[in-house]
Amino acid sequence: MTSQLSPRLFDAIGIEVPIVQSGMGGVAGPELASAVSNAGGLGVLAALRLEPDQVRAGIAQMRELTDRPFGVNIWLHDDVRTPPDPDSISEDVVRGAQSVFNEFRPRFGLASSLERPPAGADLVNAALEVMIEEQIPVFSAAIGVPEAALVERFHSVGTKVVAMVATLDDATAAVANGCDAVVAQGTESGGHRSYGQKHDRAGATGQSTLALVPQMVDAVGAQAPVLAAGGIVDGRGMAAMLALGADGVLLGSRFVATKESQASDLWKRRMTEGDRTTTMTDGFTGQWARVLSSDFTEAWDAAGHAALPGLLQAAAGRDVIAAAKRENDDQVQPLYAGAAVASMTGIPGAGEVVAEIAAEAATILGR
Ligand SMILES: Cc1cc2nc3c(=O)[nH]c(=O)nc-3n(C[C@H](O)[C@H](O)[C@H](O)COP(=O)(O)O)c2cc1C
Repeated sequence: MTSQLSPRLFDAIGIEVPIVQSGMGGVAGPELASAVSNAGGLGVLAALRLEPDQVRAGIAQMRELTDRPFGVNIWLHDDVRTPPDPDSISEDVVRGAQSVFNEFRPRFGLASSLERPPAGADLVNAALEVMIEEQIPVFSAAIGVPEAALVERFHSVGTKVVAMVATLDDATAAVANGCDAVVAQGTESGGHRSYGQKHDRAGATGQSTLALVPQMVDAVGAQAPVLAAGGIVDGRGMAAMLALGADGVLLGSRFVATKESQASDLWKRRMTEGDRTTTMTDGFTGQWARVLSSDFTEAWDAAGHAALPGLLQAAAGRDVIAAAKRENDDQVQPLYAGAAVASMTGIPGAGEVVAEIAAEAATILGR
């Protein structure tokens, strides 16, 4: 219906509607991703922190639920691909992080802890091997630029590669390495900032979607399609990005609050009602991410401690965050959300989201 919104993206990755749903850990399972693909967009399955057998099972389920193109997403961050050794972290850093988690442990009847977290599992490379073996339609790379050899391995089995980046340098590198499309991730984005190495807070903030997209279109748009991500939750946002020269859009937050999303009811409600102030924090996982502001993000900022590297911060606070999820406490768990969530209402089906946003954008643009 709306392939005329972006014939170029149709040619590059075979989607009729230039809307990509971001792979989101704990949110984007086969139900959500297949609903988006069946509506003509690109549904993307999240593979971060999944065991190889789980990745394979998710891909098999996708093939049962849709015969349209779909993607599988994983992070390529240096510290996630090669998890750091917990013993290499200074005692001060462990104590600092645990002291903030200790402020919240009594809420859930948990004992204080100054424990060093266990080593993280090395799952990223195994997941990549499964994706290549399974010859998936699209590999969605984020939080690190895929190297040329990896892109070539995907291409050799017929898989297209889409890389999400937050800087012009990374966009240029992704295109030079052979990626078939790039996603320009602005700072409004919910979830983690798409850098392959950790920056300080100012560096991680990066540019707004409005500023980044036209620059990226100018820098690499002649060689590869550019999609816009960050703060797009409706058709006017999509139309604005297409007007800036983007070939399509990638949405995360809007799909969190859909019927098929695996997010908790509490999370979906917080995305669509009441105060939805967001902030950037590295207190939940160790990497910078945009989340709904909470007691925890305030306490972490006030303490001013350094986060543990890789995803070891999440491992250090695993007991607290798990308890908050169990007890439906929205103040001590990461509710990833983009800066535009306050414009979101309702919890529609994901297919409706794709159809409505594309139709509204097409009307605005007169296409
Ligand atoms: C709940 C949530 C989880 C996310 N998880 C991932 C992920 O696992 N991999 C990834 O590439 N991006 C992830 N993202 C970031 C998105 O890819 C994207 O940059 C962002 O959602 C776009 O901004 P928006 O949320 O305003 O639409 C996540 C975003 C959200 C909201």
